[in-house]
Amino acid sequence: MSKCGYQGDKTQVALQDTKQGRNDLFAGIPCRLRAKLVFMAGQNIILGVSGGIAAYKTPELVRRLRDRGAAVQVVMTRSANEFVTETTLQAVSGMPVRTNLWDPQAEAAMGHIELARWADLVLIAPATAEIMARMAAGAAPDLLTTLCLATEAPVVIAPAMNHVMWSHPAVQENRQKLADHGVRILGPEIGDQACGETGPGRMMEPDDIVAAVMAPIVVANVEPPPLAGKTVLITAGPTREALDPVRFISNRSSGKMGYALASAARQAGAEVILVSGPVSVTVPDGVKCINVESAQQMFAATHEHIEGVDIFIAAAAVADYRPANSAEQKIKKTASEMSVELVRAPDILASVAKINNGPFAVGFAAETENLRDYARTKLDKKNLDMIIANLVGENLGFDADENAVEVYWRDGEQSFPMTTKSALAEDLIRLIFERYLEKLTAATQTALPAIAIRD
Ligand code: C5P
Repeated sequence: MSKCGYQGDKTQVALQDTKQGRNDLFAGIPCRLRAKLVFMAGQNIILGVSGGIAAYKTPELVRRLRDRGAAVQVVMTRSANEFVTETTLQAVSGMPVRTNLWDPQAEAAMGHIELARWADLVLIAPATAEIMARMAAGAAPDLLTTLCLATEAPVVIAPAMNHVMWSHPAVQENRQKLADHGVRILGPEIGDQACGETGPGRMMEPDDIVAAVMAPIVVANVEPPPLAGKTVLITAGPTREALDPVRFISNRSSGKMGYALASAARQAGAEVILVSGPVSVTVPDGVKCINVESAQQMFAATHEHIEGVDIFIAAAAVADYRPANSAEQKIKKTASEMSVELVRAPDILASVAKINNGPFAVGFAAETENLRDYARTKLDKKNLDMIIANLVGENLGFDADENAVEVYWRDGEQSFPMTTKSALAEDLIRLIFERYLEKLTAATQTALPAIAIRD
């Protein structure tokens, strides 16, 4: 019988179990499976619903959570009532919905501090810009935000708002603050929005939210992930080299490959720092992102954070040249012709690869021809540990969702056929980690005889 079949059978049993009986019930079940079963056996979840159009999906979310054996206490903000009714959520959750911090009847049944302690998880979906701002500020003017402060359970939010609101610096600052406070942020996803526009701001789908909130519990119970304790720094996206305050030289890089690598490295347990040029991709959960514009800023941010980094991946499409001078005022079109003097931008990857005992250095080579030759030359010239090469052109490499690459290192190479950038990123992180370990082992072995001779 497959492991999956086995897991499914036991789940049915687990659903009827109480928390206390778990250990006996699961005796003999492998640890990896037990972790999943514990979640299904009856988590207490507070589902906070704030006032966004995506609130109409919350009855479905409640049902999916209950299908997995969770008890769901819905807490609505006042504006959530505009999008979904208390009656619906009460019917699907099987519990009276809480809306008010000062409701004497509800408080008599279970006070808000008691409710905060009852929860194994606080999930807020949808989370509006307003609720994020209140949480980031530590404000607690209503029941939901009070619970967020009073609980010791993990807090997870699924933001949903218009994409322009999501990109606003104030919202991004609040997102970063919440992430720094340990709040897990799911999405938002990119796509069509209720307002008729397209961009990042859609709430993650209920099924995906349910899958995501179960994941940490699974992870917490298995062996440490391979990159636990390692730090990975990744550059991503294009750079912008200013000609004047409104114009710049840039390229077609979307940042998707770098961000996919950041996500895969994070999933593998690493601390991940992303130094990113301007892109419209969402920063993966748990990844620290430093936003920059020019090659010089990317160089400075990289070197500011490079100490202690184990693996450096240069996925950014950094400008090779930048205007020698950037005009302070907008250049007027008075002359019939003009020329711009360009000077070399700093090579970030080569500078990191030069650091003594520096990180395992991985570069990218985007070429339009002679892939193997150009990539191998770059590997040697920049003194890299590995280079990931791909052909670029129309619908190839840049700005695409899929990619195919050739990977080269000093005494080996491997091909990766066309696949999604996220699947490719997982394979590449696996290979990078293998090569990194090999280099570490080789370095330790060459160091040993030297000690013996000295003795
Ligand atoms: O020399 P070339 O630009 O083709 O090298 C590509 C690799 O070098 C990529 O990994 C890119 O991120 C990195 N690079 C860099 N700084 C530059 C130019 C390229 O880090 N100024």
